[in-house]
Amino acid sequence: MKVIKTIKEMKEWSSSVRQAGKTIAFVPTMGFFHEGHLSLMREGRRRGDLLIVSLFVNPTQFSPNEDFKNYPRDFERDRKMTEEVGVDILFAPEVIEMYPPDHQTSVRVEKVTQNLCGKSRPIHFQGVTTVVMMLFEIVMPHVAIFGEKDYQQLVTVQQMVRDLHMGVEVVGMPTVREADGLAMSSRNTYLLPEERKAARSLHQSLQRAKELLQKGERNADRIIHEVREILQSESLVRIDYAQICDANTLQDVDRIERDVVVALAAFLGKTRLIDNLIYRIF
Ligand code: PAF
Repeated sequence: MKVIKTIKEMKEWSSSVRQAGKTIAFVPTMGFFHEGHLSLMREGRRRGDLLIVSLFVNPTQFSPNEDFKNYPRDFERDRKMTEEVGVDILFAPEVIEMYPPDHQTSVRVEKVTQNLCGKSRPIHFQGVTTVVMMLFEIVMPHVAIFGEKDYQQLVTVQQMVRDLHMGVEVVGMPTVREADGLAMSSRNTYLLPEERKAARSLHQSLQRAKELLQKGERNADRIIHEVREILQSESLVRIDYAQICDANTLQDVDRIERDVVVALAAFLGKTRLIDNLIYRIF
């Protein structure tokens, strides 16, 4: 596996691979890998002749009060893990390379970014779409793989790719979970032992939502009421949001008559975790 640090070298590599008629699969990441990232990489390995992973903690998707500086980083550990999965290129640019001092352009997707995390993290998705647009331009992938844990991110990137006619296939992969159901996340490493225990309630509440949906409950308020009760039974959990939205538009629904996502965000101490259940009606 080769590590590439500059945009120039990355573009030259991708151009020559494309000219040779090979397909490129791409997994964008912010590093500190866990099994969830590895599952995206394995899917990428399956879908492309060559696999590129980017490792870049993107400053523009963090607000000043968020964890950009403390975001977990361990380049050597990540490098070894990508090598083991069979990644061809690890693209790991510096911030100054991606955002030189005169950088002034950003990409904003309108409607699907307004609800859910968009409310509590107003600049987040603009930072994500800007960096993903840049990475697509540099890496030139045929297919890009994202995790469904960040469901709003996945829908937003798919919308951007459609709106800008970008010609990249964007694939979502199921959330990978710990044995007790907690969705894997690099941020889980922040949790104190008692917060880690309480964090199980996120998945438990979604499981209850699934049970109710499977029994035929179609009233969103009734489901959310039970979800909140489970979350609130843990004193260490502070709910940011618990909502049921149309799976495509991400607008709230009152009745479940089409595919929906039951989406949660909650704080455990200073750590904000998200999780969701995608429920398909047909
Ligand atoms: O999901 C992530 O890790 C990031 O939001 C992404 C897509 C790599 C953009 O920085």
